[in-house]
Amino acid sequence: MKPDLSRRQFLAHSAGIAGASLGIGLPAVGAASVAGTPDGAEIRLGWIGLGDRGKHLLEAFLSLQRSLEGAKARVTALCDVNPQRLKRALELVRRPEPSLDKPRGYSNYRALLDDRDVDAVVIATPVHLHAEETITALHASKHVYCEKPLAHTLEACLEVAKAARNAEQARRILQVGLQRRYSPRYRRSIDLVRSGDAGRVLFVRAQWHAAGNSPKDKPWIFQREKSGGMVLEQACHQFDVFNWLLGSTPLRACGFGGTSRFVDEPPGRNTMDHYGAVLEYPLGARVQLSHLSFAIPDRRFSGIYELAFTERMGIDLPNAVAWSESGATRQLLPEGGAGSLNDTQLALRGFLESIATGRAAEAGLEAGLASTKTAILCQRALELGRVVEWKELGSV
Ligand SMILES: NC(=O)c1ccc[n+]([C@@H]2O[C@H](COP(=O)([O-])OP(=O)(O)OC[C@H]3O[C@@H](n4cnc5c(N)ncnc54)[C@H](O)[C@@H]3O)[C@@H](O)[C@H]2O)c1
Repeated sequence: MKPDLSRRQFLAHSAGIAGASLGIGLPAVGAASVAGTPDGAEIRLGWIGLGDRGKHLLEAFLSLQRSLEGAKARVTALCDVNPQRLKRALELVRRPEPSLDKPRGYSNYRALLDDRDVDAVVIATPVHLHAEETITALHASKHVYCEKPLAHTLEACLEVAKAARNAEQARRILQVGLQRRYSPRYRRSIDLVRSGDAGRVLFVRAQWHAAGNSPKDKPWIFQREKSGGMVLEQACHQFDVFNWLLGSTPLRACGFGGTSRFVDEPPGRNTMDHYGAVLEYPLGARVQLSHLSFAIPDRRFSGIYELAFTERMGIDLPNAVAWSESGATRQLLPEGGAGSLNDTQLALRGFLESIATGRAAEAGLEAGLASTKTAILCQRALELGRVVEWKELGSV
């Protein structure tokens, strides 16, 4: 994919979007330096975890790097415990020849964190490793982009929150891999609700219907203690959208779920393959989510979306389309207005921007914490088979 915005245009554009949605002025881009380095210094990136998502993030970064005029970021270190994945990633960065980037390879993430040529890390390892790796990286004075969810347990969330709040004082950035926060379509849909034109959100209908079991080369994903199951590992993206749209975390959740289609596939799995949940938010807003891994690959049965029913409109959030009560539809973005970058590329650009300006990430600690806690709330409700109140989670 060839991005069409120059770095300068992007910075102006992203500042405009963020400023519009938050209603705040933003610092002049370029005025700030990478924390702890001279003005305009290059951002040197390390990757920890180079499986499916880590490789995707790396490719997204490399395509940004090639397209950004004068981009001052490069990959200096890569780490994976799997030697083949590490080799594949090293080759990816070293291509096309002659490439100036010659990253060092590591099998131990702590050795990568000791590398003085690394300012920031991208972590894409299994969920149960996120907390330890994020905290260690922040303590090593690195900026961190860590995949969602924030952590695998409430206690681990608390530890990450403590480390991230301390790091904030030293202008270290923590960004969580909730890339919808950087999507122009979601942003425009949510801005419409924030503007008041749509009236109050009354109900949200959402689904995540995947056609097929998770790949078997990820044994961790089928172990609840390592992934948190589909509620934590996958749906935290949608919980983030609900919290963002409704400007709040839920009051309570209930639901039912289990394993019906992929029983003991793979052997020993202890995660669900489906559930249905309802979350209640302040002012009586309710969210209904169905989440399946055995959908038929046809548009009637599969797909991922969130539809908001407001006092005056229906809004398809991921497509940025609004319907009025008369049935008239409105595209919320002009044609081509979403640009040519995908959400992951935009999220990585946001990370580099946050490092350069010292501005907190849109998908920072608070969004990551709230979505992960919402997933844990929902998971408890499903596992206990009763309504679970937000206040039962305690304060983190
Ligand atoms: N944001 C998104 O849209 C999105 C999409 C998919 C996955 N993810 C997230 O990305 C993360 C990784 O998922 P995945 O699908 O790439 O899994 P994966 O199993 O394909 O990759 C994980 C990689 O981490 C490596 N690893 C394991 N322990 C390690 C360690 N101690 N040090 C270094 N490397 C280690 C593994 O060898 C593997 O290569 C998960 O948190 C997942 O939830 C996010």
